[in-house]
Amino acid sequence: MTLVDGPDGSIGLFRRGDTVYALRNWCPHNGAPVCLGPVSGTNVSKGGYEVEHVREGEILVCPWHKWEFELATGMSITKPVKKVESYKVVIENDRVYLVIRRLRKRKNVDTTHD
Ligand code: FES
Repeated sequence: MTLVDGPDGSIGLFRRGDTVYALRNWCPHNGAPVCLGPVSGTNVSKGGYEVEHVREGEILVCPWHKWEFELATGMSITKPVKKVESYKVVIENDRVYLVIRRLRKRKNVDTTHD
């Protein structure tokens, strides 16, 4: 994993074979530097007390509370509504480019109107 600077904080680049994934280094749970966590697989129940370890090398585990995210999409595998921001990666002539769209700042909403 390599960390690079982005407009909204650092971005982790993960190379898997010929593919590079780019994820914002910010966990949607509590803001941990998620890209510093290990890349692993995950355990799934096979029924009863049996557990199988699957998807080795595809799952990023947050170092703070162990939430698990897909490297390819940033999607949480246990809470699909939560997602680490991911960026499109383009590789041309051995150079890696990221397609980054700035995060919009929230506008204050006036709640005093009826
Ligand atoms: S901050 Fe990442 S799981 Fe809690």
